[in-house]
Amino acid sequence: MTAPTLLSPFTVRDLTLKNRIVISPMCQYSAVDGVVNDWHLVHLGRFALGGAGLVIVEASGVEARGRISPGDVGIWNDEQARALSRIAEFLKANGAAAGIQLAHAGRKASTRRPWDGGAELTAEDAAKGEPAWETIAPSALPFSDTYPTPRAMTSADIGEVIVAFREAARRANDAGFDVAEIHAAHGYLLHEFLSPLSNHRTDDYGGDLAGRMRFPLEVIETVRAAWPAHKPLFMRISASDYVEGGLTIEDSVAFAQAAKALGVDVVDCSSGGNTPTPPKLYPGYQVPYAQAVRQGAGVATMAVGLILNAKLAETILTEGKADLIAIARPALEDPNFAIHASAVLTGTADYGLAPTPAKSGLDRLAQSLRHMTKA
Ligand SMILES: Cc1cc2nc3c(=O)[nH]c(=O)nc-3n(C[C@H](O)[C@H](O)[C@H](O)COP(=O)(O)O)c2cc1C
Repeated sequence: MTAPTLLSPFTVRDLTLKNRIVISPMCQYSAVDGVVNDWHLVHLGRFALGGAGLVIVEASGVEARGRISPGDVGIWNDEQARALSRIAEFLKANGAAAGIQLAHAGRKASTRRPWDGGAELTAEDAAKGEPAWETIAPSALPFSDTYPTPRAMTSADIGEVIVAFREAARRANDAGFDVAEIHAAHGYLLHEFLSPLSNHRTDDYGGDLAGRMRFPLEVIETVRAAWPAHKPLFMRISASDYVEGGLTIEDSVAFAQAAKALGVDVVDCSSGGNTPTPPKLYPGYQVPYAQAVRQGAGVATMAVGLILNAKLAETILTEGKADLIAIARPALEDPNFAIHASAVLTGTADYGLAPTPAKSGLDRLAQSLRHMTKA
């Protein structure tokens, strides 16, 4: 029996992932001053113990004003990078590759944690030591009436943010990460530039698609130059804005093509987030975007979004719709998704996906189960 594609290795630049299961970045809103702690280590570490090929650390702010909430992870200083290096080291020591998402929230920054309502920070938050901060965006247009109105970025701001991405990439490399993912999705800063809904600029950074792509492409170029040539660079996009006059899949294919030319190796295809309009949900609802980008731009893609089980994941790969499968909520529900996928796809759980101490205990379970059946 040939090995399932989901469980077969994937090589990109000098990195070989042991399988195609990627843990999608998930904000925990639990950092203090942007510094990760034991929560993040345990949250992410369990996915390495569960056999995933690559684990990507949540959206990490390249500058303080680029955080979504005061609890976001940051990578704008060396203390933050030192704390992140412990996570990268743990993931790699336990068989997973270590990735990190480099992010700037733009006009969706300076908000409460989702479990506190997610709206704009107020005087009440300031009294608790979490003051609001000025947000920046391509244009002075708020995301919605519960979000702060951002300041339109000057060319000096554009230069500053590009330098912040460069320094974040340098720190991510020093911290030992194997993969950097640029966050250009979900209505955050880079997506805001790409989308005609949020970018009303009349200078070189707005107007037609070429103008709207300029800033994200400058970020990619700068990050690629700071990120070692032997390490893969991923980029997450929102392939569609889902509304009339917004970003379309055709725009996204063109953007992916330009990004690939600048050295992006894998395009992680998400959608939405730049308007409050939700997508229509069904298992694998964003897979058509991964397929369109893979075919149209000739770049490797990662599919994500309600890929709820191993069979669906395997079909997406064997039908050539994507190269990698990212899971977020299903991994929270089952951190051993990869081990369970091996059982579903081959008939036998591959405990070898887990590091030795876990594998040893799981092998003993298998042994007992065999004896139990015989008795
Ligand atoms: C708790 C939580 C936090 C998330 N944080 C991020 C993030 O930091 N960056 C990002 O690009 N997407 C983030 N997402 C989106 C996921 O990475 C993923 O794209 C989305 O949940 C759809 O995949 P799923 O159906 O497998 O959960 C988050 C999702 C959840 C549930």
